[in-house]
Amino acid sequence: MFFSEKYYYIQTFGCQMNERDTEVLSGILKQMGYQKADTIENADIILFNTCCVREKAENKVLSQLGELKDLKSKNPHLIIGVCGCMVQQEGMPETIRRSAPHVELLFGTHNIHELPDLIENILVARNPQISVWGSEGEIRENLPSEREYPFKALVNITYGCNNFCTYCIVPYVRGRERSRYPQHVISEIKDLVADGVIEVMLLGQNVNSYGKDFKDISVDFADLLREVNKIDGLKRIRYMTSHPRDFTDKLVKTITHCEKVCKHFHLPVQAGSNKILEKMNRGYTRESYLELIAKIREYNPKAVITTDIIVGFPGETEEDFLQTLDLVEKIGFDGAFTFIYSTRTGTPAAKFKEQVPLEIKKERIQRLNEKINKIGREINEKYLNKSVEVLVEGISKTNDQMLSGKTEGNKTVIFPGSTSLVGKIVNVVITEPQTWILKGKLQEI
Ligand code: 5AD
Ligand code: SF4
Repeated sequence: MFFSEKYYYIQTFGCQMNERDTEVLSGILKQMGYQKADTIENADIILFNTCCVREKAENKVLSQLGELKDLKSKNPHLIIGVCGCMVQQEGMPETIRRSAPHVELLFGTHNIHELPDLIENILVARNPQISVWGSEGEIRENLPSEREYPFKALVNITYGCNNFCTYCIVPYVRGRERSRYPQHVISEIKDLVADGVIEVMLLGQNVNSYGKDFKDISVDFADLLREVNKIDGLKRIRYMTSHPRDFTDKLVKTITHCEKVCKHFHLPVQAGSNKILEKMNRGYTRESYLELIAKIREYNPKAVITTDIIVGFPGETEEDFLQTLDLVEKIGFDGAFTFIYSTRTGTPAAKFKEQVPLEIKKERIQRLNEKINKIGREINEKYLNKSVEVLVEGISKTNDQMLSGKTEGNKTVIFPGSTSLVGKIVNVVITEPQTWILKGKLQEI
């Protein structure tokens, strides 16, 4: 009998959590005999791994799914599937099926391990398969995975979120916070290092709550970092995302003393006005945030500090927004991801009165971005003629004559060099700092 090659194509939206899930989906599909397709047109199975944090991402998925109709009519055997956060919302699988009936496979973030059975059912009976929720308490260990980079890896440490910030859909779609046992995390990282990995990114919606759910052992995020820091051969440890409320003194000191933990602090502040922070249910004030940053800088004078900010949260007045601008100025963030508040059905803030008109939100985000870019550029200019350590990640996406890599502080550096340096840590002297990137040249030894 003749078996032709089968190909998969996965389009990933959203955060690193989804990127990691995509690696697992790829691993499962490879184990089933599928190969990665170069283009979406060549695939026998197409998966959209979706995000629902903002409405814009969701609309993009719905419109791109619509465009796949032609591919399906040309190839009736094609399987089109949607997974990830978007599918976990109540009523969404039905909405997707209604707007794109050519989608035959829908599964949630807790059902990834069911993929082989779901595909099998479609192939055998051509029945659409929907599998959402069901086993959210369990953490599946040892699923196969196909990593994107040989030298750096994403490692889950917690799943879900218990914070219930009033704007955020995540707790509703990713479920309650669950931590992976430290022995599982450590043994995965040791295996990765044996396989050539030198940088890990520890992933969780709120990494500083790590361990709070353990009933049988007492271990927190700082304890975990200390253990990971001991792993021979590992060079860099990153983590994403941490919450300013749970960033304890113990954690600041541990990060300071663990030489492999990058001194990059991504601490989403979201807003600079205490009234808005309270309405967001963030659990800290602008004053306590400023104190935290001061403490981080006292221990780590070279810390790179970045943040996430939402503009136009319900009830945000010009006065509140000026408080955000003022906080940005006071702290001097190296960079920030800025977002226009997006109403998410099912979250408390969706019902808040005083929604801010879109025009005002747009005008505010523009003013905010201008300030952030100006400050970012001023900070970057201080890198001129300085040498930085860069983990070389590959050829630059914007200039194929250049290599691109990251500093310890997660700044992108581009410089000319041989592709044999990919995966290595090299010293680069910065010759041309810009707002978003640092240009440089290899340091001569
Ligand atoms: N609208 C806009 N931005 C949001 N974020 C989360 N939910 C929303 C929303 N409803 C932003 C927050 C968070 C980042 C990942 O996405 O800033 O830190
Ligand atoms: Fe959403 Fe807040 Fe949890 Fe982050 S901490 S995922 S913003 S609820």
